[in-house]
Amino acid sequence: MERTLVLIKPDGVKRRLVGRIFQRFEEKGLRIAALKLMNVSRPMAEEHYSVHRDKPFFRSLVDYITSGPVVAAVLEGSNAIAVVRKMCGATDGSKAEPGTIRGDFSMGIEKNIIHASDSHEAYEHEYRIFFRDEEILNYECGDEHIIY
Ligand code: PPS
Repeated sequence: MERTLVLIKPDGVKRRLVGRIFQRFEEKGLRIAALKLMNVSRPMAEEHYSVHRDKPFFRSLVDYITSGPVVAAVLEGSNAIAVVRKMCGATDGSKAEPGTIRGDFSMGIEKNIIHASDSHEAYEHEYRIFFRDEEILNYECGDEHIIY
């Protein structure tokens, strides 16, 4: 089992896509281990995107992710990091494959609906910004019906 951090970005929340996106993850067989609607402070955003600190779009990205509420979640399942990234599609919504979340809902590279951890190291860094360990729940989820 693997965990990954997902953020529905402000465009996804304002466009009322939260339910449709989580429906995809649940139907796929991922388990929601933690979930919250929240505002992201500038220090949180700067820490979350710290690997991009030297990129020209860093300030814009921080401005954007702090511009409205996000939905933060920890999803769990077999190969969850790769599975969720594949379901999100390419970063630039205008280039993402149809059938992916960005491919179906986004035309943007910054307003691209969703963020997902790209590695185990990234998950370990990111989840602590949004959740305390005790907010990530283990519970029975009928996983005998999911083929791993
Ligand atoms: S990179 O350059 O390969 O590291 O970029 P990538 O991993 O594809 O994207 C990382 C996050 O940066 C955002 N991004 C941008 N924002 C604004 N302008 C431009 N040009 C731009 N390029 C990338 C992108 O939305 C990614 O955000 P997250 O939240 O990680 O998906």
